[in-house]
Amino acid sequence: MTVHEFAPAKVNLALHVTGRRDDGYHLLDTLVTFASIGDRLTFESADADGFSLSGRFAGPLPRDDDAITGNLVLKARNLLRLLARETGQASDPVHIHLEKNLPPASGIGGGSADAAATLRGLCRLWSLDCSSDTLQRLGLSLGADVPMCLESRPLTARGIGEDIRIAAGLPALSLVLVNPLVPVSTPTIFAALESRHNPPLGALPETAGGWMALIAASRNDLQPAACQAEPVIGDVLAALSAAGATIARMSGSGATCFGLFADMNHAEIAAATIAGAHPDWFVAASSTVSGDER
Ligand code: C5P
Repeated sequence: MTVHEFAPAKVNLALHVTGRRDDGYHLLDTLVTFASIGDRLTFESADADGFSLSGRFAGPLPRDDDAITGNLVLKARNLLRLLARETGQASDPVHIHLEKNLPPASGIGGGSADAAATLRGLCRLWSLDCSSDTLQRLGLSLGADVPMCLESRPLTARGIGEDIRIAAGLPALSLVLVNPLVPVSTPTIFAALESRHNPPLGALPETAGGWMALIAASRNDLQPAACQAEPVIGDVLAALSAAGATIARMSGSGATCFGLFADMNHAEIAAATIAGAHPDWFVAASSTVSGDER
C-alpha cells in the first residue's frame, strides 16, 4: 500500500511576539496561511524501514533518526510507532520518500510541514486509531510549528503555536516567496529580539477586506533582528516591493519573505523579474488556500 502527502509551505502573514515563557520559548500571536508549493512525501509498505530523498534541497538534510540532529520525518515516524506500540496497534515497516522542494531552515515550515505530513501519512498507512488531539500533542513535542502544519489551512496561533483557531474567512492570496538561500537559526533570531512584549494581533475580522487591513496593519516582530543578522533579507524585501508587492514581509524567523500581489498573473511576472535579477535566490509564485476550502 502507498500513501501520498503534500507538505505545503507555511507563511506567517503576521507574527507578533507577545511575551516569553519561563522555559525561554516565546509567546506568539500569528496569522498563518499555506501555499500551493511544498514538499511531497510517499509512504510505502516495505520489508524493512527505509528513507530516501530527492528534490532541489535534498542535499544537506540529515538522513538518520538521531534524537537531536536527525531528520524530523524519521523522528515523527519513531514517535508515532511508539504510540502505536503503546496502544497495541500494528506499525509495519515503511519506506518513506521525501521530495524536498522547499529550502530548509527558511521560515516557511519545511521540516515542520514534513513532520506533520509524516504523522498524517503514517496514521493513514497504519490505519491508526489516533485522535486529532493526540496528533497535535505528538506534533508539538516535535516542534512549535508542527501543530499548525497538521492543519494546513488558514489559522491564527497563540501560545508558542499550539493554541490554534481556524481563520475561515481568510481569502486565497497571490504571493511571491523569495529566499536568498542563507539559512537562519531560529533560536538566534529569538535571542536577538529587542522587545518581547509587543501588542497582539487584535480582534479577528469578518470580511475579506478586514483580513487584508489586518495584514497591512500587522508586522513580523522577528524581521528587524533577522535583517540585522542577515542584511540580504532587506534586499529581498526591497526587491519584492520594487516588483510591485502591496505588502512585503518576512515569514517566521526568515530568511524567506513573501510579497502580496493583486492576482497570480502579477505574482508570476514579479517572480520572473526577481528570479532574472537574482538567479542564485529561491523565487516562487504561489497561490494560497482560502479559509473556506476543505
Ligand atoms: O520548536 P522549534 O524546534 O521550532 O523551535 C526552535 C527554537 O526556536 C526553540 O528552541 C526556541 O529557542 C525558539 N523558539 C522560541 N519561541 C517559539 C518558537 C521557537 O523561542 N515560539
